Amino acid sequence: MNHLNEAVILLLGLYLILLCRRVSGDQISGKGVVNLAHRQSKWTPLMQTSANLSDITSIRSSFEFRTFDPEGAIFYGDTKEGQDWFVLSLRDGIPEMQIGKADILVSVKGGHKLNDGAWHLLELRSEGKFVVLEVNNKEELVVGLHSKLTEEELTGKIRLAVGGMLVDKQKLFHPFQPEMDACIRGGHWLNLSTPWDTDSTWEPRPCFSEIKRGSYFPGTGVAVFNTSDLPGLKTEEAGITVEIFGSWTGTALSLQSTGFQYILEELDGHKDVKEVQLGLKEGSESVDLPREPATLTFTILKHSLVVNSKSELETESLDFFTMWKKGMLLTFGGMPGDSEATKSTHHLRGCLEKILVQGQVIDLDRALYKHAAVSSHSCPTEAMNELT
Ligand SMILES: *[C@@H]1O[C@H](CO)[C@@H](O)[C@H](O)[C@H]1NC(C)=O
Ligand SMILES: *[C@@H]1O[C@H](CO)[C@@H](O)[C@H](O)[C@H]1NC(C)=O
Ligand SMILES: *[C@@H]1O[C@H](CO)[C@@H](O)[C@H](O)[C@H]1NC(C)=O
Repeated sequence: MNHLNEAVILLLGLYLILLCRRVSGDQISGKGVVNLAHRQSKWTPLMQTSANLSDITSIRSSFEFRTFDPEGAIFYGDTKEGQDWFVLSLRDGIPEMQIGKADILVSVKGGHKLNDGAWHLLELRSEGKFVVLEVNNKEELVVGLHSKLTEEELTGKIRLAVGGMLVDKQKLFHPFQPEMDACIRGGHWLNLSTPWDTDSTWEPRPCFSEIKRGSYFPGTGVAVFNTSDLPGLKTEEAGITVEIFGSWTGTALSLQSTGFQYILEELDGHKDVKEVQLGLKEGSESVDLPREPATLTFTILKHSLVVNSKSELETESLDFFTMWKKGMLLTFGGMPGDSEATKSTHHLRGCLEKILVQGQVIDLDRALYKHAAVSSHSCPTEAMNELT
């Protein structure tokens, strides 16, 4: 069996372990501080609840919301088992509402960018045939819709969900990436006080009291990309560059394919100089990195790999350009399939403020696999200082 297959099987195994760890979800209150990240599910809501429409006394929901994530699902509601539905999401940081009712599909986007890392008070309410979104007590979006096919009856159930949807994504008018690295607090949901059911893959984690932009690796997991999904080669001379900015310790990245594995690993070295080793099975090269803020430039040439234009590793037998296009595994934070039990490298711990591939910002929400512990879009400002 070749190494790529092994890597894929390891990934699948890891995923299954994560899935099985919590067989059924727990229940939580809708009022507390909730971190919407740290799950394996994409579309499954982090939390959901339902109520009888006849019991609803208020048609408004409000909550505080904080994120640096430009795209993802925030709040969902439906009636008639999903025949009529509504979803609030972010796209480019701007609120977007999509509504499906009878034969109508609506998508409306507008208002200010919300992904600035500050808390914003969001309120959603229904006013007759209109749905209104208020942000910080100002109306930002108003959507009106009417269909002759709908008969207004206030019976049956209403379902609510946060961080995902309960209808198939195929129903969306304007598809989006659902993963949301965000926190909510102080929720009032249609004045319901019933507890919410949570996603079974969710690993409850605190929200940091203060956050900054970046991807946070707490030292337990990796993010794996298929290089064929990443920006490609422009010129052979320049090669392909991967740049990492931030402050961290441990393995920054690894590159894998059939028959080889390269690891950029930090050596236990001096205090002020960070030494990085580019290693493969036999032989390795090392290079010094400035301590803070650290920048790592990894350049892939046709037959060699270069770290910070200093350390170089040549392999005439491999054509990296062809392999990049066909698909190697580029892993940030360690090696793929490196579970806690079989751990052979030091998983990255710290904040990667920016990852660029060929000059383009890489969004970890688009990874082939990302460990639930990794935050795609937020780092604590005081690293390792977790607060509830
Ligand atoms: C909704 O109403 C049905 C029947 O009237 C009842 O059995 C059910 O418990 C109610 N559900 C809630 C969440 O109140
Ligand atoms: C919300 O519920 C509380 C108690 O359940 C009730 O006293 C209050 O009037 C309700 N508010 C609205 C707007 O329905
Ligand atoms: C990477 O992408 C290529 C091209 O889409 C595909 O053939 C290959 O199977 C993918 N590899 C993995 C590990 O998903």
